[in-house]
Amino acid sequence: MLVDTHQPTADALVLFGSTGDLAKRKLFPALYHLERTDQLNVPVIGVARSDWSDEAFCQHAHDAIIAADPHADAAVLEPLMKRLDLIQGDYADQSTWETLRDTLDRHSSSNAVFYMAIPPSMFPEVARRLASVGLNERGRIVVEKPFGRDYESAVQLNTTLHTVFPEERIFRIDHYLGKESVEDLLVFRFSNTMLEPIWNRRYVRSVQVTMSESIGVEGRGSFYDGVGAIRDVLQNHLLQVVALLAMEPPAGPEPQFLSDEKAKVMTAMSAIDPSRLVRGQYVGYRDEPGVAADSQVETYVAAQVTIESWRWAGVPWFVRVGKGLTTAATEAVIEFHSPPRMLFDEAGGPPPGRNLVRLRLGKRDGVTFTLQAKTPGPHLDSQDVDVSVDFAAALGERSEAYERLLSDALRGSPRRFARQDVVEQTWRVVQPALDTPGPVHPYFRGTWGPAEAERLLGNGDHWLAPSI
Ligand code: NDP
Ligand code: BG6
Repeated sequence: MLVDTHQPTADALVLFGSTGDLAKRKLFPALYHLERTDQLNVPVIGVARSDWSDEAFCQHAHDAIIAADPHADAAVLEPLMKRLDLIQGDYADQSTWETLRDTLDRHSSSNAVFYMAIPPSMFPEVARRLASVGLNERGRIVVEKPFGRDYESAVQLNTTLHTVFPEERIFRIDHYLGKESVEDLLVFRFSNTMLEPIWNRRYVRSVQVTMSESIGVEGRGSFYDGVGAIRDVLQNHLLQVVALLAMEPPAGPEPQFLSDEKAKVMTAMSAIDPSRLVRGQYVGYRDEPGVAADSQVETYVAAQVTIESWRWAGVPWFVRVGKGLTTAATEAVIEFHSPPRMLFDEAGGPPPGRNLVRLRLGKRDGVTFTLQAKTPGPHLDSQDVDVSVDFAAALGERSEAYERLLSDALRGSPRRFARQDVVEQTWRVVQPALDTPGPVHPYFRGTWGPAEAERLLGNGDHWLAPSI
């Protein structure tokens, strides 16, 4: 079992960006669930430049929770609303920070969580301003993604934040690390001993990881057009999933050993060859509000990743992510080598298909083993049969990622957050694709992206559509 090396439990939650999209869609609903399960025992202090009254702030939080769960319980909402407090003020105005310090004093807070749900360009400024009133000595920061824009800016951001907060008090969010299904990769790999002997280059032919979204940029056009799919998802969510699939077992239960193994496997990952990467943009993206009429930003990316480790040398890893695709799913497919020959088939029937392990990491998470079984009839032919488990049906419903991560941040548990060296390595891997992005190929919504992505695979192989 992985254990946490906890820091002290927080006594206040300060929310920068509490009037924003992330707070509305994810953070307030998560706070509701924490309140409902008695995990929220601290004041929640919003900081906003917006000229809102306390009442307007509470109403906003209330509406956000109801939008996420129309049946939200009034008996839970009421105490939650009582926890909320809003500090209205400009970040450039020193009195805003003095008010924040005084407010924390009033709550006798000595160990707050400072959650930065704000544009990333503001992270260094807010960190410095916290230090200007001594609040860097009175808590930890939670930093949203994207953490940097490229390798250099990620290193620079780490350097800047480290002048104010030590590494152990910087919690970098990648909400995929908060998903039960993604965390299950650790349990699946390291609790099922039958997998370990075959989880390597000797038996694995290739790995595919797909993260497909059917939605487009959904009102986030102005943010997305400065980012694109490589920075938005490939560098973080997707490479974190690859790291969990590819890493060696951690040396021990403490969180640093998990990060150590991720850092090792990321170090063994070659920087992506831009000629092995395909970018796409859905038709209609340029008409989205906030998107440039001549935007070259990708809403789809597919790439080959190679890991030059003892375990994985020579095994191609194919990853793809896109918006406006056929279906919403996240799935990793491990494809095993074909049997060397089909015995007993005197009739010379079709060669047996390959075994697959399909790990579904999206909403309907679970696992499917694709095996070969005898086709009924006189010949010894084989065909695919699936052995499948739906985790929600088998194990019950689980908590949302942001609920778990907020709870971890408040409890001071760093295990599900990303460490500096791992984040920097992921930027190193995608950097050539940022430097030499190549053309962006159009694709229609509701498809699997540009046809050019198919050519990445070679060997007559195809992208495997997610199993749901
Ligand atoms: P928003 O654009 O909605 O901004 C959040 C808030 O930041 C605003 O409401 C604004 O509040 C405040 N703000 C402070 N300084 C500035 C500034 N200089 N310019 C603009 N706004 C400012 O962002 P999101 O809520 O979408 O994202 C917040 C963070 O979370 C970002 O780092 C983002 O990358 C990350 N994130 C967001 C996701 C999402 O789905 N929205 C998903 C994953 C990560 P006010 O003016 O009242 O102070
Ligand atoms: C966010 C990206 O980090 O992850 C979004 O910024 C994306 O563009 C989202 O839609 C997907 O998260 P999930 O949990 O819905 O797979």
